[in-house]
Amino acid sequence: MNRYDSYFTFEGNDLVCEGLKIDDLAREFGTPLYVYSERGFRERYRELDGALSDIEHTICYSVKTNYNMSLIRVMAEIGSGADVVSGGELYRSLKAGIAPDKIVFAGVGKTAEEIAFGIDSGILMFNCESFREIEEIDRISREKKKVTDIAVRVNPDVDADTHRYITTGKKENKFGIPIEGLTARLAVLKKLEGVRLRGLHAHIGSQITSVSPFLQTADKFVSLIGELHSEGFDSLDCINMGGGLGIVYNDERPFDVGAWAAGIIGRLKPLGLKLVVEPGRYISGNGGIFVVRVTYRKEGGSKTFIITDGGMNDLIRPSLYGSYHRVVNCRLREGSEKVDVVGPVCESGDFFAKDRDITPTKQGDCVAVMSAGAYCMSMASRYNSRRLPAEVLVGEDGRCRLIRRRDSFEDLLRNET
Ligand SMILES: Cc1ncc(COP(=O)(O)O)c(C=O)c1O
Repeated sequence: MNRYDSYFTFEGNDLVCEGLKIDDLAREFGTPLYVYSERGFRERYRELDGALSDIEHTICYSVKTNYNMSLIRVMAEIGSGADVVSGGELYRSLKAGIAPDKIVFAGVGKTAEEIAFGIDSGILMFNCESFREIEEIDRISREKKKVTDIAVRVNPDVDADTHRYITTGKKENKFGIPIEGLTARLAVLKKLEGVRLRGLHAHIGSQITSVSPFLQTADKFVSLIGELHSEGFDSLDCINMGGGLGIVYNDERPFDVGAWAAGIIGRLKPLGLKLVVEPGRYISGNGGIFVVRVTYRKEGGSKTFIITDGGMNDLIRPSLYGSYHRVVNCRLREGSEKVDVVGPVCESGDFFAKDRDITPTKQGDCVAVMSAGAYCMSMASRYNSRRLPAEVLVGEDGRCRLIRRRDSFEDLLRNET
């Protein structure tokens, strides 16, 4: 499979999804507009599910990457669980039909209210980030006369070799409990009657393109599990390897999921362990694009600017991380020109692409920011009192439906008193 934007391709000069011209969708639904491919989400899930078929596993789609209810519902339909990091994400996942016993709840700062919500909902387990948090879960569980399954998020001190803002498994990151001396420190859990240690969890970073950091983490887990089992932690039967699988935005060469799965299964299966994984970007990233319309062309002192009706408030990754997204004209023309593709927001950081060669663009053209299914709409804000964009979903049958209407002006004021 061509993993590069394969759900959005050119037919002749037109960018299409399931045969529908993106230009036509932009005319029908307006811009700025997110367009998602249902096939994209489903195929990526099935690919992972197949790769992991040799081990008992649960795939928990990481809702933070894209939390539109219709997309979570697609994931629920194909049997996915959910990785949530807030009461809001838990609420959405349950409403969208994700089975509670396939939901894992992560995050360094879960509040008592969120913990109670998770316990009452009967989630699979909490991924715990500190001993204080475990004590809090224990206290709330005992109040409710329940025993709650937890996994301890381990900080394995593994370098995921990715952007420093999205590396999470190094000593200096705020996530997880340090791996050194962990077995001895976990002894305290035996005294807690409200929690049961079911698993170990690690999420070492995002957009990881090499298998090696995952295997280093799995190796560390294997020796830790051995120690914990000999210390009498018999309920420990599950390893959560987190998410982090990289995708193609430009010229990355991500690992093959078959090799990733085989490496993990080879280490964990002999120990009789179940596997949980929490992929986000891998499922949603290439399954969406962001479509904007050119409002003006502007010749600056030294550059040509393509000013669009979408901005950093709608899609912040280039501004936040300097991330690369391919940008294409939805109707190709002959030739190419070097431009900056920018938004209307009052910040110099408001851009989608800088010094990029794209086919010549005229005022009124539609331009697509590719691979925009993950961490794009879910990070959108109303900065500059801009209305959040609409979202549409293209089904495998080639039909398109609105899954989020564009904000109205009234929506901007709705919660203000
Ligand atoms: C705990 C946890 N699991 C899973 C994910 C999903 O990561 P990715 O989108 O890289 O698969 C994240 C992302 O931040 C995370 O923090």
